[in-house]
Amino acid sequence: MKHLLKMLDLTSEEIIEILNLADQLKYEKKHSIPHTLLKGKTLGMIFEKSSTRTRVSFEAGIYQLGGQGLFLSSQELQMGRGEPIQDTARTLSRYIDGIMIRTYKQDDVEKLATFAGIPVINGLTDFAHPCQVLADLMTIREYKSKFEGLKVCYIGDGNNMANSLTVGCLKVGMNVSLACPTGYQPDPSVLDFAKSYPNFELFSEPLKAVQNADVVITDVWASMGMESEVEARRLAFKGYQINHELLGHAKSDAIVLHCLPAKREEEITAAVMEEHANVIFEEAENRLHAQKAVMVKLMG
Ligand code: CP
Ligand code: NVA
Repeated sequence: MKHLLKMLDLTSEEIIEILNLADQLKYEKKHSIPHTLLKGKTLGMIFEKSSTRTRVSFEAGIYQLGGQGLFLSSQELQMGRGEPIQDTARTLSRYIDGIMIRTYKQDDVEKLATFAGIPVINGLTDFAHPCQVLADLMTIREYKSKFEGLKVCYIGDGNNMANSLTVGCLKVGMNVSLACPTGYQPDPSVLDFAKSYPNFELFSEPLKAVQNADVVITDVWASMGMESEVEARRLAFKGYQINHELLGHAKSDAIVLHCLPAKREEEITAAVMEEHANVIFEEAENRLHAQKAVMVKLMG
């Protein structure tokens, strides 16, 4: 594994190795056992979109590993004035040891990886959010103690989260059911991957998808960059909300996950969000541990 660009690139074994290391690093942090595994290393973090969790967990994470993070707003880089990705990649790789990038196009991240001689980590594109899904898998295993045979249900937009969750959850042996409105289904490459799995189901009715689920997940209806579609999406996603009524059809001990930020009373009610806040914020915490594991694997 040279980069973390999308879940499709990882083998099941690589996913489990990252999660095992993440568990170990979480344990070590909790017990104040030092793990300065990336002493002297620098991670450049390019952001073309907003972020709370990704930015702070990467910056704190590299620091805890003995290295340092450089926050690079794309607007302040020459990239923001049109310097090509391939030139940015070849320049940065002479100064630093890894690049995390959050941007729009998956192709830009792939191009960065092709030209940088150093590991590249996808911190979210319109297509994928692999760091979040590693943290989600870590959280599921923490609460359910296994993957095999569990049913994960994702309700909502077939976006970066749906794409990455579908691939990640299938690769570790879970059953996956999605409910997305027509016209808002996951990327064709993801559906193509999933179709060989008999334990994958795609519905347009949330009620069908959620039956007996062990894990129920949602995400915002309008992702970053889709601000002009907010109203149209509110209409399209009516009925795709995680609320008490819908959750009543999942298993009684189902956990609820949300990558955050959440829009209360849109994709999830405030009541469900607060009842499941412990797991949801453990999931947010696990971004830190999962990404530290990714950095150690790639930059160590
Ligand atoms: N879940 C997530 O990636 O959060 P941020 O947008 O705050 O980084
Ligand atoms: N789908 C959301 C995830 C935010 C972490 C977005 O892309 O805005």
